[in-house]
Amino acid sequence: MIVPRLIERKRDGERLEPSEIHELVLAYADGRVPDYQMAALLMAIYFNGLDRGEMNALMEAMLESGRRLDLARLPLPRIDKHSTGGVGDKTSLILAPLIASCGVAVPMMSGRGLGHTGGTLDKLESIPGFRTALSLDEAERQVARIGCAMLSQTDEIVPADRKIYALRDATATVEVIPLIAASIMSKKISESLTGLVLDIKRGSGSLLPDLEDELEVARAMIDLGASHGCPVVALLTAMDRPLGEACGNALEMVEAIDVLRGAGPPDLIEVTTALGVEMLILGTVATTRDGAREMMRDAIATGRALTKLEEIIDAQGGDARVARDPARLPRAPHQANYEAKTDGVVQSVDPRAIGYGVIALGGGRRNMEDTVDPSVGFVVTAKPGIRVEKGQRLATIHARSKEGLALGRSILDEAIVTGDSAVGALPLVSHRVTARGVEEL
Ligand code: URA
Repeated sequence: MIVPRLIERKRDGERLEPSEIHELVLAYADGRVPDYQMAALLMAIYFNGLDRGEMNALMEAMLESGRRLDLARLPLPRIDKHSTGGVGDKTSLILAPLIASCGVAVPMMSGRGLGHTGGTLDKLESIPGFRTALSLDEAERQVARIGCAMLSQTDEIVPADRKIYALRDATATVEVIPLIAASIMSKKISESLTGLVLDIKRGSGSLLPDLEDELEVARAMIDLGASHGCPVVALLTAMDRPLGEACGNALEMVEAIDVLRGAGPPDLIEVTTALGVEMLILGTVATTRDGAREMMRDAIATGRALTKLEEIIDAQGGDARVARDPARLPRAPHQANYEAKTDGVVQSVDPRAIGYGVIALGGGRRNMEDTVDPSVGFVVTAKPGIRVEKGQRLATIHARSKEGLALGRSILDEAIVTGDSAVGALPLVSHRVTARGVEEL
């Protein structure tokens, strides 16, 4: 294999053979190909793309670079849910215990905050003691025992993806549909799933803000899943404003617990329910949408979903008392309300500004080495389209200092725009994509 020749061919718009991609990816994972050559190839792919055969070869090679969860002997369906990333998106924190409490195994591998988006692992780690770096053996035992494990990608799991993803992040080559699809699906296939539900975010706060690209990434992942016997259903959901109210790690954990106790903001409940319905139907424990909704309502009303959360926290070394007493989660020392400056209609609540704002308050990473303050963030009650009066509370800022509160105010001045016009927001759940095609909802 002559790597400069492969880079040259991709640069000039040619197709690479699956065997070439395979050899290159495994050689890169082993350190036999340097970062600078892989970076050049990634940039060539950024401009010239990969066809389905090339994308499939990339995913297969990434899968081969590591081990997989061995869950096939489990007498339960195994369903995960994955989101392309958003702000205020705490649906995984709710769905993992909720769906596991309905008799579906949920091996859930999640990520950390990326760009302006929050990460499920950071949110879970706001629980004192909670450990996400489970070994594959630990995760297998935990899923067999309690039906769910919430874990991070480790060196055992698709290490080639881990290395390529870090390089993409450092070389501005993240936003490439076949690279995104192969990266996400390599991790999901390694979980030994019987089905996967994707939450593809739409709108200004999403990874791919164009509808055609969102549909294409959904189709690409559905094809990759089909090649491994893993049916995939994708919902396109709104990320033109934050989901729910809480944005920030511990604040989002509190809001997720609220939903598991039967409360929580309506938009968060609607999106979580839509995803949960797909998980229960793919998991074959429900046959109708109404039946699936009823199952989730019952799991919440009887407290089974909250008990499952306690079991997960306990199994992963965390303080399970937070499930009944969220006040035990870290709380920022300073809080202040943010109020409307004029009467009017909220025109927009910019998810990117809020997401980057959480990072600026210390609740996310600027560099991989940064430590995250789990307590800081915003609770934004304002939604696009609502009418507000001067002085009405639009949000609460949670900060570690008085300076943090001032910074929070300036972030919200930019993020929340009030005016006079009527406003159109994206529907919360707009499309359902399956191997059979696209349904507009
Ligand atoms: N999340 C991933 O795991 N991979 C990508 O490429 C993008 C988002």
